Amino acid sequence: MTLAELEREALDCTRCPLAAGRTQVVFGVGDPAARIMFIGEGPGREEDLRGEPFVGRSGQLLDRLMAEELGMDRTSCYIANVVKCRPPGNRDPKPEEIEACRPYLESQVDLIAPAVVVTLGNFATRLMLDTTEGIKRLRGRSYPFRTGVIVPTYHPSAALRSGGQVVAEMRADLIRAKQALMAAGLR
Ligand code: URA
Repeated sequence: MTLAELEREALDCTRCPLAAGRTQVVFGVGDPAARIMFIGEGPGREEDLRGEPFVGRSGQLLDRLMAEELGMDRTSCYIANVVKCRPPGNRDPKPEEIEACRPYLESQVDLIAPAVVVTLGNFATRLMLDTTEGIKRLRGRSYPFRTGVIVPTYHPSAALRSGGQVVAEMRADLIRAKQALMAAGLR
C-alpha cells in the first residue's frame, strides 16, 4: 500500500466516534520520502477546517522553529498526528480513540520510514515510546527506534502557554534531531 492509498482509506474512516464531529480527516502533510517526521496530538479547529496538521498558532511556532533550527519547511518533512480527527472542543483524545487511529500512524511511520521521529508532547511521545512517563522527563535525549531515533520534545502549544524556557528546550531538542539526521545521512 502507498501513503496515498492509506490516506484515501483514512478519509472515509468511521472507526471511532470522532468521525461524527469532524469537518475533515487530517491525515498528514509533507514528503512521503521525508527523513524526518513530526507527530503531534490531534487536529484543532483550524486543522479540522483546513484538513492539514499544525496550521493554527501551534503550527506557526512549529514552522518557525523548524526553519530556524533545522533549516527546513513542511514540504521537506512529514507531519502527522496521533488522532486524525478533531476531538470536540480540543479535549484530549481518549485511549480508545488513540487505539482506533493507531494503525494509520503505524502505517505512516512504516511507509515513510523516517530516520528521525520528533514526537511533540505527551500523547505522541507516550504512544511511540510505549511509556506513561511525562514529556518533561523524557525529553532531552534521543531513543533508538527501528533504524533511527525518536527525539521527544514539548508540544508547541506548551511553548505558547509557558514561554521562553520551554521554547529554548524545544530548540535544543530540534538541534538534537538535526544532529541525528546528519549522523543518519553519513551511514
Ligand atoms: N495540535 C496538534 O497536536 N496537532 C495539530 O495538527 C494542531 C495542533
